Amino acid sequence: MTLKSKHVVVVGGSSGIGFAVASGAVAEGARVTIASSQAAKVAAAVERLGGGASGLAVDVTDAADVERAFAAIGGFDHLVFNAGDWGGARRGAIGTIDLDAARGLFGVRFWGAMAVVKAAHGRIAPDGSITLTNGMIAHRPRPGAAVSSAMAGAVEHLARGLAVDLAPVRVNCVCPGYILTEVWDSIPADAREAQLAAFTKGQPLARVSQAAEAAQAYLFLMGCGYATGQVLKVDGGMSIV
Ligand SMILES: NC(=O)c1ccc[n+]([C@@H]2O[C@H](COP(=O)([O-])OP(=O)(O)OC[C@H]3O[C@@H](n4cnc5c(N)ncnc54)[C@H](OP(=O)(O)O)[C@@H]3O)[C@@H](O)[C@H]2O)c1
Repeated sequence: MTLKSKHVVVVGGSSGIGFAVASGAVAEGARVTIASSQAAKVAAAVERLGGGASGLAVDVTDAADVERAFAAIGGFDHLVFNAGDWGGARRGAIGTIDLDAARGLFGVRFWGAMAVVKAAHGRIAPDGSITLTNGMIAHRPRPGAAVSSAMAGAVEHLARGLAVDLAPVRVNCVCPGYILTEVWDSIPADAREAQLAAFTKGQPLARVSQAAEAAQAYLFLMGCGYATGQVLKVDGGMSIV
């Protein structure tokens, strides 16, 4: 199934993996709408996308805002959810964990995805799809990051459950490993290359992925009419060693 003339909505499409998915969909001839919380960032990304792309600001942690946004978007074909926030305490010993902060870790990536699917699913064409995003922390836990592992696992299982509930609309999930996006700009430039090399050392593909490579997984899942309830790892082989 080609994306030509399909309407693809990418939530979290103003940077990183989501932006690369939006670019790939534009290149395939889709009509693309991106959404994220910062209006200026959305406008800049729409400008960079070209190809008749459009965008709107929406905060996925605000259910009423999400409903408003999807009412404005109307009917469409494929939904990609790539929103992710990076603030807050992500690691800590279980004995000292702040439970409100731990709940907050689910706010954008899990409950945001839930709010978006709730508002959007009735507007998706029967031969369309939903693709969520989790991360390899679901399968490769790290010390002090149990809540992140739980959240990423929850997203994966949400996709499996929704694939049953929303059929014939297909629901899948992409599970990225280390993908080169703006997120890693938080590491000082002079140390970044060495740190990313250290993260990926030992993988069969011992390097980070370009965002455009990861985007291919989303484009495949949108186009493959018989794939549903699947989690597609794009991890350089991290999961097999
Ligand atoms: N990069 C990696 O190595 C990697 C690895 C594993 C998993 N992932 C997962 O992949 C997803 C995307 O990561 P990325 O690296 O592409 O990150 P990114 O460049 O920071 O993109 C995140 C996107 O989410 C949007 N967003 C954040 N909070 C939002 C909110 N409340 N409402 C709506 N949109 C919101 C951001 O735009 P605004 O600022 O405008 O809201 C941005 O468009 C995340 O879920 C992340 O956990 C990434």
